[in-house]
Formats: sequence, structure tokens, C-alpha cells
Amino acid sequence: MSTKEILLACLKEEKGTWLSGEFLGRRLTISRTAIWKHIGALKKDGYIIESSRKKGYVLRGSPDCLLENEVKEGLKTSVFGKSRIFHFSDTDSTNLQAEHLANEGAPEGTVVVAEWQTRGRGRRGRSWFSPTGEGICASFILRPQISPNEAPKLTLMASVAVAEAILACAPVNASIKWPNDVLIGGRKVAGILTEMKAEMDRVYHVVIGVGINVNTTRESLPSDIRDKATSLFIETGRFFSRAVILRTCLELLEEYNKTFKTHGFDPIMKRWKQLTKMIGTKISVDVIDTTYTGIFQDINEDGFLIMRDQEGMLRRIISGDVSPLNK
Ligand code: BTN
Repeated sequence: MSTKEILLACLKEEKGTWLSGEFLGRRLTISRTAIWKHIGALKKDGYIIESSRKKGYVLRGSPDCLLENEVKEGLKTSVFGKSRIFHFSDTDSTNLQAEHLANEGAPEGTVVVAEWQTRGRGRRGRSWFSPTGEGICASFILRPQISPNEAPKLTLMASVAVAEAILACAPVNASIKWPNDVLIGGRKVAGILTEMKAEMDRVYHVVIGVGINVNTTRESLPSDIRDKATSLFIETGRFFSRAVILRTCLELLEEYNKTFKTHGFDPIMKRWKQLTKMIGTKISVDVIDTTYTGIFQDINEDGFLIMRDQEGMLRRIISGDVSPLNK
């Protein structure tokens, strides 16, 4: 822990109580001037700290941001978010940053978060927009011992973790749309972009990028997605702590990643099926150059979509965009 982090921990331990510069200086074995400098840095990070010549310092409030300290507070994991959480006020894309870090050898569980992305990326070459500080833009590094064709399973695993985190933190009826969108009332609240570096028979690393619309208002959404997207705020009229939601995601990702390692994909597939409302419904699926319509029959043991088309044929779809069709 850095000196600034230790100072913050002291202030948090005694939140609402005045601590003199002299006391803090003794506790951290640094001068009162150094304490004053670190307090200034914490205020810049958004912490509300009152200062008084006579009484010293008192912590009144923490910022709603995804700073490493805020996310790590009370985090119950041993891998995800444990080594480093890299926080950017703005960056191109957390997936790109995680990719660089993974190439440099960052361990499994490394996390990258940003308050704002200038080149946020979505599935199938689309972009991902999230207004500054209103949503969660985070990427996680995994180093699974699997072959590349098993990677789609990790995408479904992530959608289960994210959907469960949303259900645990907000009173909403969230469900999963194949392969990995999280919806509330048919509108998208979270999306996942999984990218990997692999050879034919070996995966070096996987980056799972998660975007969640948390405190996003309808007005701050671009007009072309206003009808298709939603947020926890739009659904409930309440603001949520993004740090708490991200922490819950990390805890659930760790749990499901362990399940995947020890028991394989089967239990995750079962949970995925409980969290979707698509099975048995009429859908259309856009794949590269064609659109199929039919009934969403199931997902198979690889996480692929099985649909029964209008001719009654079963089709196995590896990747595509699903839209519900009215019966
Ligand atoms: C989709 O639904 O198309 C996937 C969206 C994924 C967005 C997240 S935000 C954090 C991470 N960084 C990115 O550039 N994209 C993902």
C-alpha cells in the first residue's frame, strides 16, 4: 500500500472523527507537511475531507468513482481485482489497455476500469458509449487453460456473473439474451466483449470487457440507442454505487471461473438457461451475410445457439445477433 492509501485507510477507519496532523504524521512516520500534501491529493481524487488548523482532518465522504481503493474495499476475492485495478479517468478502451497489460505478462484477475472511453468497442465491430462516470467500463484478464474453440463458454460465463451481479444489487428483472447481453424489459443494460490471444491449440489470455449502464439517464444516451438501451437508474429512479456493483461482478466472476475450472461448463450452462427468457420463443438471428428465423430451441454444451428454422431444421449458430420476434 502506498502512503496515500494508508492515510486514506486511517481516515476511513475513523470516518467522521477529527484526526490531527500530528497524530497522522506519527502513525505514518511522515511529516505534517507530507500529510497535508497527501490530503490534497485525496481531495483531488474526489474525497470530501474537511481540514482545520486546530482539529486536523476528517473524512466526510468518498467519491462515486471506480478508484482502486474504492473497489477493493471489502472485496472478497483471492484473484479477481486482487493484484491490480488500473483506473483511468479516460482512455481509448479498457479492452485495449487490458490487452497491452496481458501482453506484458499481467496475471489472471488484473482489472482495468475507466470513467470514460474515447473508443469504447462493442461486439461485431460496433462501438460502446457510456457517459463519463455514469456506467461501468471494465475489462478483466483471464489466463484459462483451454483451447481457443472453448472461449465462447467464457463469454457465457461472464454474462451469468454480470446478470447475477445486477440482480443482487438492484431490484430489477434482468435476463440474458444470447450470447451475452443483459436486458431489462427487452432493453440492453449491459454488454460483454470477449477478445483473446491464441494459437491453434493454446490460449495465451482472454480479455473480458464489460459495459454496464448504471446511473445513465435517458437524455445522456445517444438518440439512436435510446429505445434499445436502459440503465439501472432509468429502470428504478435510483442511483447505485458503481463500486459496489463492480465488486459484486468481480466476486461472481471469481466464483464462476472456479466452477468452470473444477466442474467444467455444465453448471454454468444450467445457470445461463435459468437466466434467459429466450428458450422456446420466436427469434431472428443475423449471422454474417444472412438472417434466419425460427424458434430458440436451446444452447448446446459449447454455448452455441440451437434454433429450429421454419423448415423444421435444427441450426447450430456459433455467433450472431438475436432479435425477438412477436408470436
Ligand atoms: C456489446 O454489447 O457489443 C459489448 C459491449 C462491451 C463494452 C465494454 S465497456 C468496457 C470494455 N471496453 C471496451 O472497449 N468494450 C468493453
